[in-house]
Amino acid sequence: MILSTFFFSTGLEKIALGRVGVLLLAGGQGTRLGVDYPKGMYNVGLPSQKTLYQIQAERIRRLEEMAAQRFNGIQGNGIAWYIMTSEHTKEPTLEFFAKHNYFGLKKENLVVFEQGMLPCFTFDGKIILDSKSKIAKSPDGNGGLYRALREKKILDDVERRGIEYLHVYCVDNILVKLADPIFMGYAIDKGADCAAKTVEKSQPEEAVGVVCRVDGKYQVVEYSEITLETAEKRNQDGRLTFSAGNICNHFFTTSFLRDIIDNQEHSLKHHIAKKKIPTVDELGNRFTPKAPNGIKMEKFVFDVFQFSKKFVVWDVVREEEFSPLKNADGAAKDTPTSARHDLYSLHERYLRAAGGIFIDKSNTIIPPLTNGVNGTNGHEANNNDIEKCGLKRPEVIICEISPLVSYAGEGLAELVAGKKLQQPFLLRANEEH
Ligand code: UD1
Repeated sequence: MILSTFFFSTGLEKIALGRVGVLLLAGGQGTRLGVDYPKGMYNVGLPSQKTLYQIQAERIRRLEEMAAQRFNGIQGNGIAWYIMTSEHTKEPTLEFFAKHNYFGLKKENLVVFEQGMLPCFTFDGKIILDSKSKIAKSPDGNGGLYRALREKKILDDVERRGIEYLHVYCVDNILVKLADPIFMGYAIDKGADCAAKTVEKSQPEEAVGVVCRVDGKYQVVEYSEITLETAEKRNQDGRLTFSAGNICNHFFTTSFLRDIIDNQEHSLKHHIAKKKIPTVDELGNRFTPKAPNGIKMEKFVFDVFQFSKKFVVWDVVREEEFSPLKNADGAAKDTPTSARHDLYSLHERYLRAAGGIFIDKSNTIIPPLTNGVNGTNGHEANNNDIEKCGLKRPEVIICEISPLVSYAGEGLAELVAGKKLQQPFLLRANEEH
């Protein structure tokens, strides 16, 4: 606890000094979620109707405010937000932010750039046609970041602004803590040039890469490339041997990235994904095949870990930091519903810890969820107690805290302590009323 306070303070000070930037990887095509617009524009169905982009923008604003309060102002322009898009997501992303007035961020702090594309191939190495006059291409993977940082002169911009540390993250985690001062502070304190946040993998088949060491070098073995036999390996205590689940939250120093794009980028390998790639028949009619007909080639953002001189991992609590939105509702997990529920239960815990009391329509107090997760106060009932008392509670209590009010549960006591809260409960900042 004392250590995380120290790391928090270290990270927040760097933010106040203008040394921290965030970089969002948002060039994916969102195929699993099934939307034809950038995933960041997805309205998750919260009471506020906020999209992933808005939630992230507001978390940045809140952090800037916290840093300014703590360190008597913020130097420079605040936190720069770089967003890597691709051919399909760049224009809609730019239009979306302009339409929403950059969600209150400074326009010059938002830098949207485009990653590269690569041709798609058949299994025997022929280029696939997307139409009679166009070859099929797909984004070159989130590791296309490094080429784009160089070619679009984005790292030059990072250096020009005096940013020394970047938090790089993926678009779909509704609980993401942007530029998390604890994570940044930890990595900075340890003198790391590169770091990853992890959660304990829930089961061998979970679709997360694992952070591990291979032949003495740190890397992520992606879920699509690990064998089931390796994924299922367990230690004597029953825990998975490869348990450090990658949540696509990385820390890099600017100087590390400079070395990567100047000297190492070309040596990053391409990974291959077999996909159903829309193409044309002999008559030129376009169709989407029912089975994979070719390969997409992608670089992976974490493949630079091998070049790190000091690599550290920060393991976090899943319920506080990781709920990815990958699939449409109806899938078994990582859906809009699961994302909303995870946010509600985290916010419920924040509100309870701040002294808020949840009641139902008949003014009856709703007990907390327990099982060690919901019950951070340390004096709340456990499930057995609840059952004994005959108390029932809904699976989730719909409650949402605007990121403009609180980044991670701070500052809530003065707003909710001793107050009765009825769902759906939405705690908004003054400017949102
Ligand atoms: C990713 C991680 C996986 C991790 C999981 C956690 C990679 C390669 N894999 O897997 O290890 O456990 O997230 O949720 O990082 N993107 C681009 N350009 C592209 C392709 C993707 O910017 O060409 C972006 C996406 O928009 C997204 C992020 O990269 O924000 C991750 O892509 P996604 O396809 O969601 O990765 P997963 O397969 O879920």
